[in-house]
Amino acid sequence: MTKNCEIKKIVEEVGQDKIWRPLYDFERNKLSKGVGHDIDGIDPEFTDLDFTGKTVCDLGCNLGHFTFYAHERGAKTVVGYDMEPKVITGAKKLAALYSIENVEFETCNFASEPATRTFDMGMLIDILGKINISEGHLIPILKGLESRSESEMLLTFRPLYLVERHFGMPEADFLKMYPQAKIEKGFFNLLDFAKDLFSENWDVTYLSKELPNDEQYKRTVHFIKKS
Ligand SMILES: C[S@@+](CC[C@H](N)C(=O)[O-])C[C@H]1O[C@@H](n2cnc3c(N)ncnc32)[C@H](O)[C@@H]1O
Repeated sequence: MTKNCEIKKIVEEVGQDKIWRPLYDFERNKLSKGVGHDIDGIDPEFTDLDFTGKTVCDLGCNLGHFTFYAHERGAKTVVGYDMEPKVITGAKKLAALYSIENVEFETCNFASEPATRTFDMGMLIDILGKINISEGHLIPILKGLESRSESEMLLTFRPLYLVERHFGMPEADFLKMYPQAKIEKGFFNLLDFAKDLFSENWDVTYLSKELPNDEQYKRTVHFIKKS
């Protein structure tokens, strides 16, 4: 079987509905459009970050888009975790097809399973969103990231959510779920929530440039462990 046919087979086995970003074969034919993204580029805010020689985990790695990216940027080892076994099998096959070493993939729910390894840098890219937050997973996800990260944490998320519109619940119910959350004029500020949760041990750098309407845009946030 040619390498292109093998990638096509991976797409069939995983299922297009579970593939988050567009996937291409070796001739740049698009095999899957990616359920979450029309874009397939790397977020520009990542370009200034230093991955060289670091151990990195990619939490919620899907088919390993950022796992492979961290490897390309010089990480020493990268481990991608995802709770979907089919996705992890597909990611492992892709790594073999791309002949990438020092990258591992493991099935794991990082929000509910304790950390078995720690890393210089933990990445949490496009995991926090309406569903995870409204189902009450926000703190377990952030703690799952922190428990695996020794020195740095890299996250992308939208900083502001309208509680009633985005989470489909009254503010009082949201506050029962997250008593420490602050809501102002109907908005829950996720950036402040994460900063407060990590404030004792982590300094934060907001890597994204300012945009006119923050609510609409995903931003990149980098936490560095206090010395
Ligand atoms: C929105 S996709 C993002 C994928 C990837 N980070 C990216 O940006 O290309 C979310 C992925 O995270 C996985 N996921 C979500 N919550 C998880 C959890 N608690 N433990 C492990 N995987 C999780 C899903 O199975 C899915 O593959």
